[in-house]
Amino acid sequence: MNYSEKVMDHFANPRNCEKMEDPDGVGTVGNPTCGDLMTIYIKVEDDVITDISFQTFGCGAAIATSSMITEIAVGKTLDEALNISRNDVAEELDGLPPVKMHCSNLAADGLKAAIENYYETHQQS
Ligand code: FES
Repeated sequence: MNYSEKVMDHFANPRNCEKMEDPDGVGTVGNPTCGDLMTIYIKVEDDVITDISFQTFGCGAAIATSSMITEIAVGKTLDEALNISRNDVAEELDGLPPVKMHCSNLAADGLKAAIENYYETHQQS
């Protein structure tokens, strides 16, 4: 399988790979086919993601896409972050092998789940 240098770099040196203490939003998603799991943690201030981290129990592509999505999402507004697609993540990694594209769903879905969790737990009255 041919992986880009960026994929190999993010797999070997994942960014922001740690559990976050006291996050504002947490999202955990799983891939029912392979059983891989990903959790994304976010800190939010004034609707902007100020900090983000992840923990992934999964394949190399899942780890690389999680790492990359943390770099894409930090500093974005929640609305901007909700629009990050799996294709955006794959493009930033200079592509993923077609059979691994589904792995990037975990990253995009995990981020959306964390943002939804933030909205659920920080409802304006
Ligand atoms: Fe499961 Fe990649 S094989 S996320």
